[in-house]
Amino acid sequence: MIFFGTTFSGLEDVAAAEVSGLLGVEPERDVAKVFFKGSVKDCITLNLAGQTVNRVFLLLLRDKAESLGDVERLAGSLDYTEVIERGQSFAVRADRIGSHPFTSLDIAAAVGKAVIDSYAAASGVRLKVNLREPDVEIYCILRNEEFLVGVNTTGESLHRRWYRAGYHRAALSPTVANSMVRLSGWKRSQSLLDPFCGSGTIPLEAAIHGLCISPGLRRTLALEKLVFVEPEEVENIRETLWRRERRDEKLTIMGFDASPHAVAVAKSSLSSSGLGEAVRFAVGDVYALDRLLTSNVDRVVCNPPFGLRMRLRQPERFYVEAFKAVKNACPEASLTVLFSKQAVVLRALETAGYSVLSMRKILLGPITAYIATSV
Ligand SMILES: C[S@@+](CC[C@H](N)C(=O)[O-])C[C@H]1O[C@@H](n2cnc3c(N)ncnc32)[C@H](O)[C@@H]1O
Repeated sequence: MIFFGTTFSGLEDVAAAEVSGLLGVEPERDVAKVFFKGSVKDCITLNLAGQTVNRVFLLLLRDKAESLGDVERLAGSLDYTEVIERGQSFAVRADRIGSHPFTSLDIAAAVGKAVIDSYAAASGVRLKVNLREPDVEIYCILRNEEFLVGVNTTGESLHRRWYRAGYHRAALSPTVANSMVRLSGWKRSQSLLDPFCGSGTIPLEAAIHGLCISPGLRRTLALEKLVFVEPEEVENIRETLWRRERRDEKLTIMGFDASPHAVAVAKSSLSSSGLGEAVRFAVGDVYALDRLLTSNVDRVVCNPPFGLRMRLRQPERFYVEAFKAVKNACPEASLTVLFSKQAVVLRALETAGYSVLSMRKILLGPITAYIATSV
């Protein structure tokens, strides 16, 4: 079987490394996804334990399509009786990237018709469509001329973590935060600080990474309704992963933020995460960082306020002063930072005395952002 896990564009290598480490496979990277050959067991394991992937799909088709006619013909050539049981409902979700004379809704409608016709031809049964709560979700994407059809084995994206206990208007996606922690090179024996922690996503994801937490254990997954998945196999893997967690391990992870509201949200999320003492959150301004810290810091990982989103009046001055304060309080620590204003932040890092070791571009929906690590 071939599966693909989705991630954010620019973080495919991080997802591939995690998939490889968890499953012992060699994933192939593509834009915002990683493909891998594996078993149903691998699919269940990745859904339950994966920290950097958003969804996992069983690949049904990967081919070239130039027209809506091609899309319908290719989708109609598949046998859906192996993935949808008689009596189950289904829905098609479609994405489209590139320039085409039709929309993603047209693709979803064409594939939906193809699924119904192909299933009826193979079994004599007319499948029910349920767009809101389908038993099986067929996903397709047309990226330029590459057409993929898959079965969503995850359901709602894994980036929707169980611990979120409040709203922060600039909260980072947990799978991006988790990837940043990995990119920073942090090890569980080291200390990690986010001086702009907001709702606490980066420190919480560091704890999840450090304690080997399986986020998917704390939710239901679409695969539980899939005909090719045995419930006992899911139960066995759940038990193994549950035993693998190191919830009692001592970690040194800190998150500070100038906003008492943000820190209150972070503390509530820590409490609903069940990760106990793994993280310390406190209210504090980055300019007072040297007074807030009681121990040495090895890695700083953060996303400071984005200019537009956080209405910064003088972004460059803010970044220079903030990075100087971090350098002064944590002189030995590397700094992994996510930002959108590339030129401004790179200049500010340099002015504050940092040398950029690596930088990558990532796409967060419509926003282009960068992750750089400096020392
Ligand atoms: C982009 S948000 C961080 C979001 C966070 N990563 C999350 O997932 O919720 C930036 C944060 O920086 C905080 N902030 C702004 N100025 C600050 C300062 N001088 N010192 C510390 N925190 C500050 C804001 O309150 C905001 O929560």
